[in-house]
Amino acid sequence: EVFAAVVLAAGRGKRMESSVHKQYLLLHEKPVLYYALKAFEESPVQEIVLVVGKGEIEYCQKEIVEKYGFQKISHIIEGGAERYHSVYCGLKAIKGADYVLIHDGARPFLDEEIIKRNIQAVREYQACVAGMPVKDTIKISDEEEFAAATPDRSKLWMIQTPQTFSYELIYQAYRVLITSEENTAEPEQTLPYDSLLNKQKVKKLQENRGQVHVTDDAMVVELLTDIPVKLVRGSYQNIKITTPEDLKIAEALCEKKQ
Ligand code: CTP
Ligand code: MG
Repeated sequence: EVFAAVVLAAGRGKRMESSVHKQYLLLHEKPVLYYALKAFEESPVQEIVLVVGKGEIEYCQKEIVEKYGFQKISHIIEGGAERYHSVYCGLKAIKGADYVLIHDGARPFLDEEIIKRNIQAVREYQACVAGMPVKDTIKISDEEEFAAATPDRSKLWMIQTPQTFSYELIYQAYRVLITSEENTAEPEQTLPYDSLLNKQKVKKLQENRGQVHVTDDAMVVELLTDIPVKLVRGSYQNIKITTPEDLKIAEALCEKKQ
């Protein structure tokens, strides 16, 4: 069985408000992006596709791949405008993998155990995502920011990455998502692996594409297939560097690790 990883680093880091994109900021003297690549390099994953921003390929080749001697990075490619475009670019570069782990390059605290749990679960369920039970109460807000509902906390998870899938499943789901956006999808198109997709769901998405805000990979599988996505434990340390205070938290977590 062949496992591949797509590591996403094509974001512009707007919420970080830094001139350097957050994935290249230094965390204990190494770029944030280094840590996830290192975790995959030391895992059973055989191939890593690194997705970077426009004009950043050469920089990453020199300053990340060559500088730290990564051996498993098979492609460095440019991503797209939204995270889901970048994921599709990454998926297209992979050939011959049975499973793919999709990971945010902005999550440096990926570890061996999280990868192991993803690999185990995807073998059994075809689709799984890392996450953790939420600690805070979560409320749904109405348009005026009044509390509209309070879902039962015991059932709520915050979702992280890796998000791991059988390759054909995630590739076909993303292909339909992207083609529906480009308006190139024909209503009666025959997909080579369409048995994995639910035709009614495909049709519904094609009709409502403008209204759906895609924020993770599992969502694409939920929207287009009937395959249940298994939740596996990530860790509370597996944070995404998003705003400036996250970098301070990350520094503290690094110290604790050493
Ligand atoms: N990402 C990507 N391509 C995009 C947008 C995001 O590859 N077009 C990646 C980011 O590099 C990051 C991960 O997806 O590793 C999660 O996205 P997020 O935390 O939102 O990062 P940014 O989009 O860079 O940050 P922001 O939303 O604050 O601009
Ligand atoms: Mg973003």
